[in-house]
Amino acid sequence: MKEKIEALRTKQEEAKQGGGEKRIESQHSKGKLTARERISLLIDEGTFEEIGMFVEHRSTNFGLDKVKFPGDGVVTGYGKVNGRLVYVYAQDFTVMGGSLAEAHAEKICKIMDLAMKNGAPVIGLNDSGGARIQEGVVSLGGYADIFYRNTLASGVVPQISAIMGPCAGGAVYSPALTDFIFMVENTSYMFVTGPNVVKTVTHEEVSSEDLGGASAHAYKSGVTHFASPNELACINDIKRLLSYIPQNCEEKPPAIAVDNSDHKRPALNDIIPDNPNQPYDIKDVIEHLVDADSFMEVHKNYAENIVVGLSRINGKSVGIVANQPAYLAGVLDIKASNKAARFVRFCDAFNIPLVVLEDVPGFLPGTDQEWNGIISNGAKLLYAFCEATVPRITVITRKAYGGAYDVMNSKHIGADMNYAWPSSEIAVMGAKGAAEIIFKREISSSDDPEATWKEKEQEYADKFANPYNAAKRGYVDEVIEPSETRQKLISALDMLKNKVDNLPRKKHGNIPL
Ligand code: HXC
Repeated sequence: MKEKIEALRTKQEEAKQGGGEKRIESQHSKGKLTARERISLLIDEGTFEEIGMFVEHRSTNFGLDKVKFPGDGVVTGYGKVNGRLVYVYAQDFTVMGGSLAEAHAEKICKIMDLAMKNGAPVIGLNDSGGARIQEGVVSLGGYADIFYRNTLASGVVPQISAIMGPCAGGAVYSPALTDFIFMVENTSYMFVTGPNVVKTVTHEEVSSEDLGGASAHAYKSGVTHFASPNELACINDIKRLLSYIPQNCEEKPPAIAVDNSDHKRPALNDIIPDNPNQPYDIKDVIEHLVDADSFMEVHKNYAENIVVGLSRINGKSVGIVANQPAYLAGVLDIKASNKAARFVRFCDAFNIPLVVLEDVPGFLPGTDQEWNGIISNGAKLLYAFCEATVPRITVITRKAYGGAYDVMNSKHIGADMNYAWPSSEIAVMGAKGAAEIIFKREISSSDDPEATWKEKEQEYADKFANPYNAAKRGYVDEVIEPSETRQKLISALDMLKNKVDNLPRKKHGNIPL
């Protein structure tokens, strides 16, 4: 027996070498960690249990029968992150560039199936040259097996993807189907086709970084939700994200104890400028409403006219969706609608209550927006809110104009509690534009059109630039002082904590994608 145990240990040691010392050195020289090093940073010490260490590919093409790597280029298993179960796979770039083929895919599918049955998140640490070219259609089939499971698991268990190297071809579509993507600056890329193919097809010359680096996807495409400066920071960000979310769709998010009973925030009374057209930073409002240092912004650099993120209020997880008056006046456009809609659906799928801060002048006008489909894209956000059954609270801080009033979690589309600050203006549009339309004749026939316009603008503002018409009809439940907002949110979230709301029976809805 002793010899057999020794032989097992030798085999295990060999498997842990991945593609061998030279390739590990090359990985390190690029500022990248190996699959096992990444797992040891992610998973609590001593809790990782590997599955399928000795799995090998079965291909005999192109000399592959002579090259076998135990594990087939991916380390899979389960373990704990801060004491909570997760399933993890980490692709090993030192083995055939982390390329994915039959056996590699089977290992990933196995842990995804376990995750679904046992109700725990799946975390993928991706570092792969895509479909293993030598294995042909078998590799494509392997990807499709994963995509299928990603889709079935969507909304059942949280799925998180970290991109920690070049991810090309099929390697980007599984992450795209998951809930959150994290990228590492300067060492990770995502593209369907790399710079060489781009040059051949479109004659564009572009570097990997410009085409699909973390900045490109954090600022331009919005494909990644987070961009971290290095792999350690990326893994710490993943751990932080996990702390807000439940293990699966049947659970509530974890709560932490907070030792604080003074919820008055007097500074909030001084944030809204007297001039309604002057911007302010909604993140200052968020910081005063949520528990100290608890706001984790999602999509920080993409569509900054809307701010979304996970946070805690009195120790309980919430999803924040807030118009940002400091960027494009907080207008809703295509990108902002998509960003917020996806976030709302994530929170709803995983029982995270929504807190909406509203200061929105409307949808962005113009041919660019219309021709690119602001109608159907804006409708995504509307649909996402209408469908959400988690506790939903709105605080109108200033403007709630036009269709955007309806969209931003209004009472009419199912919000549970709607508050307004005294600075709120709830109207079809701003007073200036409204006066121009409804008093057109009076203004044009006046001896002093400018003065008449001003006078009519004031008349409209006096009537509608306030929260009281909405409050009279019960569209707003309470007009509150800004300083008492945190206390109101805590009370309302507590009151709503056992909310049950059911949608009509259906196969599934048809969100305007
Ligand atoms: C087999 C691969 C591979 C692949 C890389 N390798 N990609 N082996 N299949 N897809 C191997 C290399 O041969 C090399 O082996 C080792 O991995 C490291 O690769 P390098 O090229 O030396 O590394 P680097 O310079 O860092 O470049 C990494 C890379 C590049 C950008 C990923 O290798 C690359 O462009 N690979 C091909 C990408 C691709 O076109 N994939 C197919 C996409 S199609 P040795 O032995 O020399 O160390 C696809 C279809 C799925 O995925 C569609 C589903 C919807």
